[in-house]
Amino acid sequence: MIKYCIFSIFCFLPFLIWADELPQLGKAPLEKVIQAMTVDEKIRLLTGTGEVAEDILVAVGETDKIVPGAAGTTYPILRLGIPAMVMADGPAGLRISARRDSCPRTFYCTAFPVATLLASTWNTDLVQQVGQAMGNEVLEYGCDILLAPALNIHRNPLCGRNFEYYSEDPFLTGKIAVAMVKGIQQNGVGTSVKHFAVNNQETNRIANDAILSPRAMREIYLKGFEMVVKEANPWTVMSSYNKINGVYTSESYDLLTTILRKEWGYQGMVVTDWFGGRDAVGQVQAGNDLLMPGKIRQQDSIRQALKTGKLSMADVDRNVRRVLELILKTPRFKGYPYSEQPDLKAHASVTREAAAEGMILLKNDGKTLPLAADVRDIAVFGNTSYQFIAGGTGSGDVEEAYSVSLEEGLTGAGFILDKGLKQHYLDYIRAEEAKIDWKKYNHVTPPRIVECTLDEGLIRRKAEETDMAMITIGRNAGEYSDRKVKDDFELCADEREMLEKVTRIFHQEGKKVVVILNIGGVIETASWKDRPDAILLAWQGGQEGGNSVADILSGKVNPSGKLPMTFPVRYEDAASSENFPLIGDEEALDIYREFYTGPKGTDRPNIDFTRYEEGIYVGYRYFDKYRVDVSYPFGFGLSYTGFTYSKPRYLRTEQGYEFSCTVTNTGKIPGKEVVQLYIAAPGKTMVKPQKELKAFAKTKILAPGESEVVRLVVGLSELASFDEQASCWAVESGRYLAIWGSSSRDCRLKQSFTLRQAVTGEEVHRVLLPVRQLEELY
Ligand code: BGC
Repeated sequence: MIKYCIFSIFCFLPFLIWADELPQLGKAPLEKVIQAMTVDEKIRLLTGTGEVAEDILVAVGETDKIVPGAAGTTYPILRLGIPAMVMADGPAGLRISARRDSCPRTFYCTAFPVATLLASTWNTDLVQQVGQAMGNEVLEYGCDILLAPALNIHRNPLCGRNFEYYSEDPFLTGKIAVAMVKGIQQNGVGTSVKHFAVNNQETNRIANDAILSPRAMREIYLKGFEMVVKEANPWTVMSSYNKINGVYTSESYDLLTTILRKEWGYQGMVVTDWFGGRDAVGQVQAGNDLLMPGKIRQQDSIRQALKTGKLSMADVDRNVRRVLELILKTPRFKGYPYSEQPDLKAHASVTREAAAEGMILLKNDGKTLPLAADVRDIAVFGNTSYQFIAGGTGSGDVEEAYSVSLEEGLTGAGFILDKGLKQHYLDYIRAEEAKIDWKKYNHVTPPRIVECTLDEGLIRRKAEETDMAMITIGRNAGEYSDRKVKDDFELCADEREMLEKVTRIFHQEGKKVVVILNIGGVIETASWKDRPDAILLAWQGGQEGGNSVADILSGKVNPSGKLPMTFPVRYEDAASSENFPLIGDEEALDIYREFYTGPKGTDRPNIDFTRYEEGIYVGYRYFDKYRVDVSYPFGFGLSYTGFTYSKPRYLRTEQGYEFSCTVTNTGKIPGKEVVQLYIAAPGKTMVKPQKELKAFAKTKILAPGESEVVRLVVGLSELASFDEQASCWAVESGRYLAIWGSSSRDCRLKQSFTLRQAVTGEEVHRVLLPVRQLEELY
């Protein structure tokens, strides 16, 4: 034993002396640590370990050796006490591999509801709780940064990643993102708010140039990011793939330094999206601190630029400092003893509750829902009823232990589902799935399984034997391609046929039909919504989705979700419909590959560049201004009870206005109401939308007859619009209208107030101006 101790001391002595002499992160001043780093170490710290060179001896930084399935890891420099930092996706929960080589146990994470559903709750406290649960899994599985939330605007209904994003409205987006970041970071782990910015299409996302006016950029596309940076201080910001007005965001000093840091005061670290941008040196200069997942080619060009003087060491050191400052905060640096056993059971109830709160009742004729006590036997149609979609594909996907289907949820809630129909569907789905070449769809959305042809005789028998029918319509999407109008936004012929036959035959038998929409983005509803008796927009509710739907159908939960976007009548009605790519998945994937391999286009409209001609008129701002009929308006959602609004008041304060009104539950069932406050500006000296959402709140559960006084604060700066000529935020004087709405088209109360004096904010930088097709934007 003594011999062994002496031997150990001799073996480790050199390292102890070495470690003692070298400045160690967290112990020595940061400047000393940076000074002690070799140029090569600095370069490697700024580029992840995605591609590991042969000569790298310290290879423990590779993600798979720390947390398999995480998205990436920074380069560890152990001699200076700098550990690797692990970054993992994503917006619906932690994305890591559930299985590890030669390890018998599993590492499942909770699949929480998709972001769009969370925004549909309009409940920031609840979203914060979801964030807290998500962040706990990040911590307990040994990760440091969750690559979430994603807060790009739903500019167009067909963006393939809309499910990962919150809303068409920047204010709602910002508030939900703030709650999510706070919830996640409460655990002592970081977030990465993404994709900064104006990343609104998947087609050629990696090189598309978004051409837009400074006003649209600041008011619509940057607003949510500005709110989250100022109110929640995310540890990291992820720059996006696209260009803004000709410059890659990850290479844009104007975006990443002038706006983000100088104007908004951001102190954290900026990371690229994976493989984003072209010019590593430009990225370093722009203040894009960390390039992920990291490529040797990037390291070479940074090294070369330092040699030639094109890149200064000061720029490198600045970025190195920000990466180190971040590492200092991470659980890995602090030596957190992660358990790899988060409380998945507790998180399952968080996701079940959150999902139920974000589901939206779109139609409920004749009080079809909640299901009456005498409804027991249900005939369930539609493939997705049996294979509920928990969430979208790509990096927004999660490896969860199980996913509850509608059929399982209803059975669990005590309903009796037609067994013959179930078997029929399960056999059919299995046979269809066997035809799919799954290898082709790793990380991308697999094809939809066409609905089986239903014999009318079979449907009639089911209509006689059961109490009612349910039909699920399912949609899925994800990275790399956008959705299409035909057979995606619009129902497919087989779905129409199913809907027509089931509703006709069940109605002939005097039985009701409920449609469940298990979708991640907007679909066309106007042409068929009169057929069923009720429609529940269930979104993609995470792994407990089927239970959450059952909670609503059974009446255990009174629906209180409201739409975070508009459902237009036709796709063509959307403001951006002419300026959005409409191509197939295959073509989109070819274009994606082109970026790395083939000829690069520069002039294909909506592929190489996209004109944001609609300017600030996105979503309801457009539909309201041009008085376009919609299928379901922004902010819409029914309840099993009713609410009245009364006693509107307002108070002028030093910072702005305090509004209040009383909301009363006038029905027979307890429920919550989302109260929306829109402001209509005078619009005399500035062009203004008809109204804009400026505040919202969700009441507590109000018992029948119970009231709550809702108080909402609107800061003066919230009334400002971006004045492009003066390059500043400006609030016009004049008569304003505060509109209390239960949706954007269901105004309950109005109050007018007058602002006597116009207010002009500080001038901001004239940056990111469009250089191309400028004249067409004005
Ligand atoms: C996505 C990001 C994601 C990253 C890492 C990219 O393809 O755009 O949202 O965080 O991959 O997985």
